[in-house]
Amino acid sequence: MAKITLSIIKADIGSIGGHIKPSQKLLETVSNYIKEKGRGLIIDSYIGHTGDDIAILTTHKKGPSNPKIHKLCWDAFLAGTKIAKSQGLYGAGQDLLVSAFSGNVKGMGPQVAEMEIEERPAEPFLMFMADKTEPGAFNLPLYLAFTDPMHNAGLILSPKVKEGFKFVIMDVSYTKVDKIIELKAPEEIYDIAALLRDTGRFVVESIFSRASGEQVVSASTTRLHNIAGKYVGKDDPVMLVRTQKDFPATGEILSPYTITPLVAGFMRGSHNSPLMPVKKNTSISFFDGPAIVSCLAFCEKEGKLTESADTFDHPYWDYVREQAAQETQELRRQGFFGADMLPMSELEYTGVMETLKELEKRFKIRKK
Ligand code: 13P
Ligand code: 13P
Ligand code: MG
Ligand code: MG
Repeated sequence: MAKITLSIIKADIGSIGGHIKPSQKLLETVSNYIKEKGRGLIIDSYIGHTGDDIAILTTHKKGPSNPKIHKLCWDAFLAGTKIAKSQGLYGAGQDLLVSAFSGNVKGMGPQVAEMEIEERPAEPFLMFMADKTEPGAFNLPLYLAFTDPMHNAGLILSPKVKEGFKFVIMDVSYTKVDKIIELKAPEEIYDIAALLRDTGRFVVESIFSRASGEQVVSASTTRLHNIAGKYVGKDDPVMLVRTQKDFPATGEILSPYTITPLVAGFMRGSHNSPLMPVKKNTSISFFDGPAIVSCLAFCEKEGKLTESADTFDHPYWDYVREQAAQETQELRRQGFFGADMLPMSELEYTGVMETLKELEKRFKIRKK
């Protein structure tokens, strides 16, 4: 059986009209670059956008973290940035945080999710792309899809799925090297929940089947704020999920997105909003949001991709989107107040800190 690597590398390299969507020319530049320069290196590719982020999906046989694959995507983003600058796009090269490529785009700004797989006779998988949010946005949907029979009927009905899953969770506040913990579902689901509730700090990096040991999920974990030390745009994570047979079914993976959990990243990266499931190549609008997630289903054979199936393009999800818009309205009614805006520790702009410093000088201790 063939070993194939699936790689998603994603970056915001510029947008029309603020942080809305890349230009057609920008998408074409990145796409043409990958097709021309990737010849002989990759087997197949798909390039698309969600909000203002461009994601490059490639299939190849080089394994994860391969310098040639990473350089190909990095250089495609550099070529795109040139076009973005020439068109006067906003935030040209926004996510390319370091100037020189050093072998791996992890830690350089782009989001990365990769998986080497032992190809099954049929190989269905999902490509998730989110905008205006952080990697922790996938925490609740993943927890529910892999531990809860309310969403995953396979946990009751399929003996292999019932054997459970191993979660690898990263503490993304530790920036020197990767700091991870492995926890088993179902025995340790309360420990998993205790970590995953803190979406700014603990993030699911990968999930493995306990029946076969095979990898099911690979999610990106980059927090731009932690690399740059200041606000440079939201992280906007990507994720790969294999489905069916010994893994959860596609519909079980999608089921939790009906909840539209509140996540961080709306306007200036500093507000909460429901995570709205959207169609392929959706742009951003109201109040620079709300946070959106798209999901494309593919099958592949020896690295050759089918066309994508747009999983959130269905009347059911129109209803969910309407609910998410209503929730967004409810939250927006209280503007900057309380739960609408992120806590001080997560605020992405320094303006509030500067105001507090100035006001501190005017505070007085009242004499008894
Ligand atoms: P500027 O402060 O660069 O205008 O960005 C605001 C914004 O859109 C959030 O990044
Ligand atoms: P992006 O990270 O998607 O560029 O969003 C920046 C932002 O803060 C918009 O308000
Ligand atoms: Mg942007
Ligand atoms: Mg973005």
